Amino acid sequence: MTQLFYDDDKLRIRVCGGMNCASNGGGRVLEDALQQALEAAGVADEVEIFRAHCLGECHSGPCVRIAGERFYHVQAADAPDLVRDEILPRLK
Ligand code: FES
Repeated sequence: MTQLFYDDDKLRIRVCGGMNCASNGGGRVLEDALQQALEAAGVADEVEIFRAHCLGECHSGPCVRIAGERFYHVQAADAPDLVRDEILPRLK
């Protein structure tokens, strides 16, 4: 992993907060679900969630980018699985 995907050793996650994604279950709702899942996994202090204005793939939203990899059609209910399968393995 490069420094690009980490900030002060925290893994960066971008959650799209653009209009299309936010109106389909992304944005703040998805941010909150991911934060709760990170806290439940005990790794909230190792991950930084950022809100993106638009990730450029509105037709596939809600979109999330984790360490440069994109995930599409992500819903709040997916947050625990996303943390387990895609975030925990990327933590240093
Ligand atoms: S609004 Fe989310 S990718 Fe454009």
